[in-house]
Amino acid sequence: MNIRVFRTPSDAGIYAASMLERVITSSERPVIGLATGETVIPVYDALVNFVRCGLNVSHVTTINLDEYVGLAPDHPQSYHQFMDEHLFSRIGIRMQSTHLPNGVAPDLAAECERYNEVIRNHPIDMQVLGIGVNGHIGFNEPSHALITGTHVVNLTPETIAMNARFFSRKEDVPRQAITMGIQSILQAKQIMLLAFGEHKADIIYRALKDGIRTDVPASILQLHKDVTVILDRQSAARLGL
Ligand code: F6R
Repeated sequence: MNIRVFRTPSDAGIYAASMLERVITSSERPVIGLATGETVIPVYDALVNFVRCGLNVSHVTTINLDEYVGLAPDHPQSYHQFMDEHLFSRIGIRMQSTHLPNGVAPDLAAECERYNEVIRNHPIDMQVLGIGVNGHIGFNEPSHALITGTHVVNLTPETIAMNARFFSRKEDVPRQAITMGIQSILQAKQIMLLAFGEHKADIIYRALKDGIRTDVPASILQLHKDVTVILDRQSAARLGL
């Protein structure tokens, strides 16, 4: 694993965006796997600046990790809206080239199968990942077993509590999500895992240095041959670098 530590999330975001730029400019049909959440905002801000300075993204396909069950794409807290606000609308990407699970599909099992097919048809060149304080990647939550393909997951009380900061009423926080599975994540040619802040220091240590365990799903990334971990000083604090 290549571990890079930056002074600020915004410096780290520029580094991550330049890694994405390399993938985007070195392939005719690049496929980027995307995440949502606070961590990836500096990455998307930097990428938007690159596009404003001439980076062409018209040939890029994106595949997001997850979406809440029960939130329609136009719901303000949906991941569809997050992506639109922080990236898609700002870089003018063709919406047909962007993919997210549909959290209001009438048949969720069929939706998971459809999403697996999307991933099969578009092998991911670079997967962007954040990490939950409980070690989740996508919404692959700590469990006795990890699931390979796209699935519906019951979010843990810890994740629901963390997500509550984005909702005005606690009872509106979704209890379930559709997430890409662990195998689909591991099949990406390259992976970048980002984490910022003191509150991520413990889980970054456990994910990178403490063996591979299903109750720390991100630790499985130790098996992938091309992972770059992008941290700030606070999240790297326990690594003893
Ligand atoms: C969201 C996702 C999650 C987040 C993680 C960190 O698409 O896949 O795994 O990356 O929960 O969230 P933040 O960045 O808000 O701390």
